[in-house]
Amino acid sequence: MNIIHTISALRQQVAHYKHDGKIIAFVPTMGNLHQGHLQLVAMALSEADIVICSIFVNPLQFGEGEDFEQYPRTLEADAEKLKQAACDIVFAPSADEMYPQSDADGWDQTQVIVPGISEILDGASRPGHFTGVATIVAKFFNIVQPDKAVFGEKDYQQLQVIKQLVKALCFPVEILSHAIVREASGLAMSSRNGFLSNEQKQQAAGIYKILHSTEQQILDGRRDYALLEQKAAEFLNQQGFVVDYVQIRAADLSPPIEQTKNLVVLAAASLGSTRLIDNRQISL
Ligand code: PAF
Repeated sequence: MNIIHTISALRQQVAHYKHDGKIIAFVPTMGNLHQGHLQLVAMALSEADIVICSIFVNPLQFGEGEDFEQYPRTLEADAEKLKQAACDIVFAPSADEMYPQSDADGWDQTQVIVPGISEILDGASRPGHFTGVATIVAKFFNIVQPDKAVFGEKDYQQLQVIKQLVKALCFPVEILSHAIVREASGLAMSSRNGFLSNEQKQQAAGIYKILHSTEQQILDGRRDYALLEQKAAEFLNQQGFVVDYVQIRAADLSPPIEQTKNLVVLAAASLGSTRLIDNRQISL
């Protein structure tokens, strides 16, 4: 496995793969890898000849006062895990490589905005977050030129933003997604779980419990979504969370109507200073 830090070196390697007719799958990450990421890599391996994984803590997707500085940087351990997982290339650029100062030249950096879907739910609470995600993913797609890219379904809204980005900007990339990987307690695996104490980790499983219970109630025929959202938020408050939202939406994140068959129930809530998100997809 190669670890590459520059765009030019990666482009050279990609050109060889393309010349040899290899199918490339890309797994973008911010590192501090866990089993969830490794399953994305396994899916990529099953879908392509070559797997390229990026590790880059993208400053553009963090808002002021968020955890950019604290976000764990564990490149050596991550590279070892990716080697064991049979990843071919790790792309680990510096911030200057991805956002060169000279580009500024008095002008702001070019950014990619995916309107509408970027402004609701997490986008409403974290203004600019999805513009940061869309911008870095668009840059990666242009550098890596993957045939396929794999994203986790824990970041459900991010996945919808990426699908919209690919459609709108005609990227020739097939977007694949992998189901949420959970701890035995039900807690969705996340790099941010490392910020939680053992006690908070037990508490954090409350998000999964209430999403699962809400899902069951919908499957049992309840359609009073506003009340279900309110009850779920109350439960989380009682469990010590500060709730950002619990929302029941159509699969495309529009508000559901009675006849909507594919739903998703999403929650974002903080325990201490750690913001957690999770969701359950429901087919009626
Ligand atoms: O999901 C993530 O880890 C990040 O948002 C991504 C897609 C790697 C972009 O920085």
